[in-house]
Amino acid sequence: MELNEFVHQLDELEKQAVGELSAIQDAAALEEVRIKYLGAKSGQFKNVQKSMGALAATDRPAGGKRFNEVKNAIQAAFDEAQNRASQQATKSTGPMADPTLPGARIRLGHVHPITQTIEHLKEIMGRLGFSVTEGPEVEDPWHNFVALNIPDDHPARDPLDNFYLKTAEKNSGVTRLLRSQTSTVQIRVMESRQPPVRIISLGRVYRPDEADATHFPMFHQMEGLWVDRGVTMAQLKSVLRLFATSYLGGDVNIRFRPSFFPFTEPSVEVDFWWAGRWIEFGGAGMVDPNVLNAVGYDPEVYTGFAFGLGVERLCMRRHQVTDIRDLYRNDVRFLRQF
Ligand code: DAH
Repeated sequence: MELNEFVHQLDELEKQAVGELSAIQDAAALEEVRIKYLGAKSGQFKNVQKSMGALAATDRPAGGKRFNEVKNAIQAAFDEAQNRASQQATKSTGPMADPTLPGARIRLGHVHPITQTIEHLKEIMGRLGFSVTEGPEVEDPWHNFVALNIPDDHPARDPLDNFYLKTAEKNSGVTRLLRSQTSTVQIRVMESRQPPVRIISLGRVYRPDEADATHFPMFHQMEGLWVDRGVTMAQLKSVLRLFATSYLGGDVNIRFRPSFFPFTEPSVEVDFWWAGRWIEFGGAGMVDPNVLNAVGYDPEVYTGFAFGLGVERLCMRRHQVTDIRDLYRNDVRFLRQF
């Protein structure tokens, strides 16, 4: 074989092989090209190598030199193609996942501390025989004031102390407000059924107070009402003491201080002895005859007691929360503790 022809074969082989290899992006295509050119049995490179034996002895050094150049060029193109193919593989599937690593930690959510408190209070009062009722948060003056023996000119009705719904009033002519106390539910329950009633009602109330460590414009109350023949103040005190003992734990003492509420007579402030001092948790009293009359109960036949306790206050004391605003900031670092 002529040296020229041999070199021409090598040139062609180099051109083709390097051209094809430079276009390769993935491992499967690379393997095809590898077999075609570099296959041990019938690869084109092997074929050209065989024909080197047919060169004249004087042509062999020159032929061999060119052969080696082409071999190196194809090898370099092959290496590059292999690199590209392996990069492509990591790009498309990402790094291998390591199944022995611990899984990503997911925190379980839970109900809000106030909701937990409400559930707890319902459970305790349920064991004391009180069933749960609900009332609306948007109220009319009858249920929030009038039927509760709070007359028209009473300061508790001041617009500065209540959230009156001005737009509702403008559009429909009726006065509505966000209830300022859960005592409204006493009226709704007594209007809808005859004694005996023994209920609690837990829910939100609203007052336009500036928020600080102990005030928030929305908070929760637990209202209690027991009306029947012969209900006494001694029963009121027993119920509240049992409640305090169950909720705060230990043998909690309670104290009544004389007070005034329009809807009870007599009225008291209720203190629990807790962590070495007396703490006020709410108000209570014997349902005023005017209230019984307003709902059509005969005050000569029935007596009853009522109480209203602050839910946030109970929750905060039990869990050593010192700022009511923490309950409503929605900061998980705080909420997570409950
Ligand atoms: N409604 C009163 C308040 O929000 C609390 C209260 C006092 C409720 C005495 C009662 C009660 O049922 O008898 O301040």
